Amino acid sequence: MKESTGPYNPIVMDHFKHPRNMGEMENPDGMGEAQNPVCGDTMRLFIRVESDRIVDATFLTFGCSAAIASSSLTTEMIKGKTMEEALQISDEDIINALGGLPPSKVHCSILAEMAIQAAVEDYREKSRLKLPPPLSSPIEGEGI
Ligand code: FES
Repeated sequence: MKESTGPYNPIVMDHFKHPRNMGEMENPDGMGEAQNPVCGDTMRLFIRVESDRIVDATFLTFGCSAAIASSSLTTEMIKGKTMEEALQISDEDIINALGGLPPSKVHCSILAEMAIQAAVEDYREKSRLKLPPPLSSPIEGEGI
């Protein structure tokens, strides 16, 4: 029996059937979680960062075929990008890179855009926490 691809084009089907970079990452530098406001599906995006550049990315998605394909493609799109470049990626860019989504599935790519924003935010927050405290304030009791 010939397998039907339904409403999806071959690029989407390829990413859905053979997702790239699926799975949790150990000790990621940033983790972003997003929930699709339309359907409630969720995505987690993990990033490894070196010198402000994403060197690795993985994902875990509980959602439809379009959400999984968007997640898979997103991990490939953001690798090698700086934080600022990653933040520029919109759901439209993801849809275009997927060769289009059926109109009823356009909202599924929003999950990936939201997860990128959240992962970058998490990375920036963790980086801030790693900074040593400012040295400007005098240490109490010193010199007495
Ligand atoms: S239907 Fe929920 S992300 Fe696609």
